[in-house]
Amino acid sequence: MSLPKLYKDVVIVGAGAAGMMCAIEAGKRGRSVILIDHASKLAEKIRISGGGRCNFTNRYTTAENFISGNPHFCRSALARFTPQDFIALIEKHGIRYHEKKLGQLFCDGSSQQIIDMLHGECTAVGIEWQMPSTIKEIVNLSSDRKKPGTESNFSVITERNTIETKSLVIATGGLSIPQIGASALGYQIANQFGVRVTPLRPGLVGLIFSADEFSAFKEISGVAIDAEVSYNGASFRENVLFTHRGLSGPAILQISSYWQLGKPLHLNLLPQQHAQQIFLLYRRSAVLLPNLLARYLPKRFVQTWCTSMLARLAIAAKPICDYRENELLLIADNLHNWQIIPSGTIGYKKAEVTIGGIDTLELSSKTMESKHTPGLFFIGEVVDVTGHLGGFNFQWAWSSGYAAGQVV
Ligand code: FDA
Repeated sequence: MSLPKLYKDVVIVGAGAAGMMCAIEAGKRGRSVILIDHASKLAEKIRISGGGRCNFTNRYTTAENFISGNPHFCRSALARFTPQDFIALIEKHGIRYHEKKLGQLFCDGSSQQIIDMLHGECTAVGIEWQMPSTIKEIVNLSSDRKKPGTESNFSVITERNTIETKSLVIATGGLSIPQIGASALGYQIANQFGVRVTPLRPGLVGLIFSADEFSAFKEISGVAIDAEVSYNGASFRENVLFTHRGLSGPAILQISSYWQLGKPLHLNLLPQQHAQQIFLLYRRSAVLLPNLLARYLPKRFVQTWCTSMLARLAIAAKPICDYRENELLLIADNLHNWQIIPSGTIGYKKAEVTIGGIDTLELSSKTMESKHTPGLFFIGEVVDVTGHLGGFNFQWAWSSGYAAGQVV
């Protein structure tokens, strides 16, 4: 039995944050739109985001909050659909929200409110849903333009039907959390059309360390310190959390998006003090180093850190007054510049995002359309634009979805 054939102005693959935003905008312009997703539950990533409260945007979003092969690429879309525009949508739906810190906006209730709002907006403009549904093949009809009367650019073959369309929007997101539906389909479609994809790796992710280097720190799993973590010019000051496998917490998640395998991270354990000044103040004191540092850092951390650091520097544990000047200098240097080399990340299973994606050189920054394949669009996380932690990734999904939605 042959499968039904239909025509839609716009086929969007991936009914997540970016896909739904694009559908709403295209629908408002009177386009016939179908959203296809292989998941049976709508927008699971939105549901689990922000600890269940969805950090849906950041008031202070700028291009500097994004990592991309072309740091300017995101500017145009971010300027045309701003955090304020999304806030206006939230307020129109009466969703109450609050700022947690640093401009990060969360729902007072639950992330389900955002999903319901987007679903409702889609319904209001007549979007069709096809989910769960698997994409079997995408045929490029524009390469077959000899056929007279062929208006469509693509034929999307699913297990249920064949849909011809002028505009194909790929909004399949990244590779993180495969257990709730992440797949590599977006990158595979890019490959099929000869669209370059930059190298992919997990971002906003916990870091792990080799057993011998970090064995002592396992015992302080659960302890958090306020530190500044730096890598190659990028630097974040927030909590660093010790876990049973390594490090996590906001400062580590942020730096993980920059960090490259095999390279060291630098931690300033006393970002608000000068260790040398502290030592100068206690120069004649018989206080032991860990006891002195415990006035500035959590005691359990200090005990473990001092034991490991002093062993590495081959310096004995003794009262401050007994240290030589050069020993104190070395200790101070280690406090402000503790170098650690992670052995890896905890991977896509736990990462919040995928770094890398569709090469921005391949796309129009105004419309997200492929420069070489007319009618093919990539939006959201599948593109090589990754936000910092704090609501920036959703803002990119809204802004890029909006940009494509104006032209599809
Ligand atoms: P998204 O992943 O939302 O949607 C992609 C859709 O494509 C999914 O519905 C998927 O099922 C579908 N799909 C995939 N493969 C397919 C296939 N082969 N066929 C059909 N459909 C397919 N960001 C933020 O700004 N604030 C936050 O609070 C958080 N919190 C957070 C927590 C956790 C645990 C994670 C993992 C991530 C976050 N994020 C976040 C990141 C944020 O969720 C993410 O960047 C956006 O959801 C990306 O939106 P997209 O629409 O691009 O992809």
